[in-house]
Amino acid sequence: MRQNAPLSVAILAAGKGTRMKSNLPKVLHKLGSLSLIERVIQNVSLLQPQRCLVVVGYGQEQVRGALVGYPVEFVEQPEQKGTGHAVQQLIPCLADFEGDLLVINADVPLLRTETLRSLIATHQSQKPSVTLLSARVGDPTGYGRVFCNHDNRVVEIVEDRDCTAAQRQNHRINAGIYCFHWPVLGEVLPQLKTDNQQQEYYLTDVIALLPEALALDVQDVQEIAGINDRLQLAEAYQILQERIKANWMAAGVTLVDPNSITIDDTVTLGVDVVIEPQTHLRGHTQIGEGCRIGPGSLIEHSQIGQHCQIFYSVVHESDIGDHTTVGPYAHIRHHSQINDHCRIGNFVETKNTRIGSRTNAAHLAYLGDATLGEEVNIGAGTIIANYDGITKHSTQIGKGSKTGANSVLVAPLIVGEQVTIAAGSTITENLPDDVLAIARARQVVKPGWRLGEGRTTGAGSSSASAYPAPSPSESVQIFVLRLHPHQDLKAELLKFIQQEGIQAGFMLTSVGSLRQATLRMAGATTNQVWRDTFEIVSLVGTLAPSGVHLHLLITDPSGQVRGGHLQAGCLIYTTAEMVIGESLRHRFERQRDEQTGYHELRPRFRS
Ligand code: UD1
Ligand code: CA
Repeated sequence: MRQNAPLSVAILAAGKGTRMKSNLPKVLHKLGSLSLIERVIQNVSLLQPQRCLVVVGYGQEQVRGALVGYPVEFVEQPEQKGTGHAVQQLIPCLADFEGDLLVINADVPLLRTETLRSLIATHQSQKPSVTLLSARVGDPTGYGRVFCNHDNRVVEIVEDRDCTAAQRQNHRINAGIYCFHWPVLGEVLPQLKTDNQQQEYYLTDVIALLPEALALDVQDVQEIAGINDRLQLAEAYQILQERIKANWMAAGVTLVDPNSITIDDTVTLGVDVVIEPQTHLRGHTQIGEGCRIGPGSLIEHSQIGQHCQIFYSVVHESDIGDHTTVGPYAHIRHHSQINDHCRIGNFVETKNTRIGSRTNAAHLAYLGDATLGEEVNIGAGTIIANYDGITKHSTQIGKGSKTGANSVLVAPLIVGEQVTIAAGSTITENLPDDVLAIARARQVVKPGWRLGEGRTTGAGSSSASAYPAPSPSESVQIFVLRLHPHQDLKAELLKFIQQEGIQAGFMLTSVGSLRQATLRMAGATTNQVWRDTFEIVSLVGTLAPSGVHLHLLITDPSGQVRGGHLQAGCLIYTTAEMVIGESLRHRFERQRDEQTGYHELRPRFRS
């Protein structure tokens, strides 16, 4: 009798998996978070084999690439001529191996490690040439049939395609999982022939060549389901989900509607977690005690603390602390870290953002590449503009600060602590602690105004209006004009108001000197012209495209004052420096006054 032999494993993964009808090698199709072959590798790794050999062929670059980091060696099967041919490829690399070889198809992802352990234990206690897993199933279609004589001694295995009608009545099937004594298998492998329906080298044909083969029935036939097509893949997913969900319910988790929930086997859940309907937990996700997740949520690769609530939301690659509420309709993504007692509400998206404790962003916000302190309040409609079209920039918001509704924070930006940002502000510059920042146009209110009619009430009623007057800074604008020797004062002013589009100007202040003055006195029809050097001591009146109406006071070298209505022909001696205001609420028109016969000022409100 042999001693307990060392164990190696061979996983057969070189086939294309034609029935999958896929460009991806079959063994790389995902069952939940892991591919079929990853699941098989995980299972056999727990047996701590000496070596784990993976036979690869079809799509081997993809298969090798997908298994980087797993403790496996690859053996190439250059052409796929059947499962027997696949095992033949191991002969050179197992030349000195004296132990047992567990051969397993890569498409049996639901097999439990305990089942493999009992296969090996049976093999090692009874020491036949091979022990294989078999099962008695309701529908054996597609599987090889196991024919035994007595005591589960296998005589032969006949593939479904090669069975006679009578042989098909045998419902005892081959699971494709074998524990061989390698030195014996190595000897008979070269004798395989291809005299079968598929003209392949069948591994199952070695059974008839070996001195002693033993079959061991598995109790749970679901375990040995081989995945050959997408329907079987979907059925296996259901079985996997049932197992995972049963485990979590047994461990103290409530699943409100298990059929509408999916949970990857890489997820961990604390006690008294409640998972509401239509919720999917994927990848390396951990959910702490007492959380309520869902309805309608997707959480992937994320850590959720204790007693959180997440409903109708997506959380991806992010961490959430304790007692935090997310949703409805929030999207927490790309390394966001949300601390304890936060509230992330309706239509809020966070990306790569750290959020301090007791901070709220309750409605309609985008928080990207930002760090928010504790107790910050993000007003509805706050947007962090983190992308300038080329690069992303970061934003900091200090403890206790508040952003008003519809604020835009243009990154890079540092907002201090206890800052208040007024609603509708676009903040482009850093803000120190304890300030109110307002960055938006002020409201203009035009009393007694209706669309299409303009002003509807008399000018005098504006002071009686209930609306506050607009601030001076926004109803007036200021111009400064300097003239040079020989220029004509009135002509230059007319040119200036044209050029600046001044609608309702008034002279605020002016000084300068003239070498010629041309003025008209009240009631006169002709001008008076003086040539001397004069100081301009006053110039007052209104300026508009409809006309300038200005009165000028000058002093002659003896200090005598002259004054009158400014006419063309006032020529600058050294300078004229004028500050001109404009009312932005008015338009100055002129209209002939029947009483005086002159074109007098008629102010209008601008529409
Ligand atoms: C195989 C068994 C069948 C058993 C069933 C269990 C054979 C001849 N038949 O049939 O008795 O009931 O599994 O699921 O063994 N592979 C290679 N190289 C090849 C061909 C296949 O590595 O040349 C690999 C495949 O990638 C796959 C595994 O071997 O992982 C099984 O191949 P598959 O074609 O699925 O075999 P079945 O027809 O299902
Ligand atoms: Ca198969």
